[in-house]
Amino acid sequence: MERELVIVLDFGGQYNQLIARRVRECGVYCEVHPHTLGLDRIREMNPKGIIFTGGPNSVYGEDAPRYQKEIFQLGIPILGICYGSQLMAYMLGGSVATAPVSEYGKTEVEVDTSSALFEGVSPRTICWMSHTDYIERAPEEFKITAHTPVCPVAAMEDPGRKLYAVQFHPEVMHTQEGRQMLSNFVYRICGCAGDWKMDSFVETTIRQIREKVGDGRVLCALSGGVDSSVAAVLLSKAVGRQLTCVFVDHGLLRKNEGDEVEAVFGPNGQYDLNFIRVNAQERFYAKLKGVSEPEQKRKIIGEEFIRVFEEEARKIGAVDFLVQGTIYPDVIESGLGKSAVIKSHHNVGGLPDCVDFKEIIEPLRLLFKDEVRRAGLELGIPEYLVYRQPFPGPGLGVRIVGEVTADKVRIVQDADAIYREELAKAGCDKGLGQYFAALTNMRSVGVMGDERTYDYAVALRAVITSDFMTAEAAEVPYEVLFKVMNRVINEVKGVNRVLYDLTSKPPGTIELE
Ligand code: XMP
Repeated sequence: MERELVIVLDFGGQYNQLIARRVRECGVYCEVHPHTLGLDRIREMNPKGIIFTGGPNSVYGEDAPRYQKEIFQLGIPILGICYGSQLMAYMLGGSVATAPVSEYGKTEVEVDTSSALFEGVSPRTICWMSHTDYIERAPEEFKITAHTPVCPVAAMEDPGRKLYAVQFHPEVMHTQEGRQMLSNFVYRICGCAGDWKMDSFVETTIRQIREKVGDGRVLCALSGGVDSSVAAVLLSKAVGRQLTCVFVDHGLLRKNEGDEVEAVFGPNGQYDLNFIRVNAQERFYAKLKGVSEPEQKRKIIGEEFIRVFEEEARKIGAVDFLVQGTIYPDVIESGLGKSAVIKSHHNVGGLPDCVDFKEIIEPLRLLFKDEVRRAGLELGIPEYLVYRQPFPGPGLGVRIVGEVTADKVRIVQDADAIYREELAKAGCDKGLGQYFAALTNMRSVGVMGDERTYDYAVALRAVITSDFMTAEAAEVPYEVLFKVMNRVINEVKGVNRVLYDLTSKPPGTIELE
């Protein structure tokens, strides 16, 4: 039986993968494709429904992304969101204009609950708006099914042609009944049965990997973090011993982490993998000497990683594929989508031009962190590994502000180990998305045992987050912070100040660099 599919056509909005994720949460498989995806390809894919995303353009703009009008004649239900709704209106003869008042944020919307899209939704419901243009006049044959005091067409539909449009964003949490609306779209309007679960992702991905790899040899960049561990186990289930996992100890790992990773994935561990550990600490420190610009550091670490892999690959012989545990937030924050570059994530934007592999496989590229964890559980990876807090590819390189040296690595490793130990002892680590110690580049004056000190300040960070795209600083009890401060200053040479980072994301990011 063919799997049900809903496709999201990407017109450049911020929330495109979020839409796909919400649809998957409804139990229907969903993929995002660029708006340049051809009509023939859409016919071949035979989706049960199509969603047009939002986007930054105005439909009248010269470079505004559009689609062929024939898409509306396929008989496939379409839901336009924000820019997608305006595009639908514009292409079908309605009019779009700059709204006299832009709506931004939570807005009360009056909806017509007799619409299939709004079945089970309250007549007045809070929705997330973010627009400067609006649909001024719906195309003929369309019925207006929602409005606000300033937006005459907050939703419209032509049920005969199965065309639906909403000005607001049902995919974001702030739209209180957005889930119900998307569920109505996929079940009531598209007629989906809901045949998708995370284990289907695992099964399908394993099948796709087998088809792609054939009898080729695969090299996996294993860091021991959640993402690369899930990617490695996925690959090992798909191609067994055709896979070699290379674990590069770049000297930027947490304290004792290299040995811990080896214990799990190495020859005495629980997986049937070819495992190679490369101790490349000195090599990375040498490359990072004198470099303090964060993006440059990221690029150097990413590039050196690839070089090490290439060397290992050469030793192994012909290697066709390189596997990486890139996940969706890495992709957009690296600016490979249309959003601005925040950080070029290790293994994503930081790839060097010449890579000695036929292809890169990134099986988790479309998943959010919690989806990766669910896939990990499906794969039978132990919970303690699956729920391990994420650790960035460039490791402590992005937790040491400024130049990286072996001594700074030692400081941050020791401080971090104390912080983690105390949080765990106090039972405060549960519910935290990520927590770690970082080393600021600030040295300041202190006094210890009647002596003047001029040492570094360690920053403690703990954040609560579900998707790592936004985060808030956690309220770690003062007694715990105080104890950590005391221990760090007493036990870690080179530190005379401990700070707690209160910054949310945005405006900060989780890592310091
Ligand atoms: P930021 O600092 O951008 O981090 O708020 C968001 C999440 O991504 C992790 N992170 C990375 N993960 N390679 C990775 O695999 C990277 O280069 C990288 N940089 C940040 C970070 O730890 C957090 O979980």
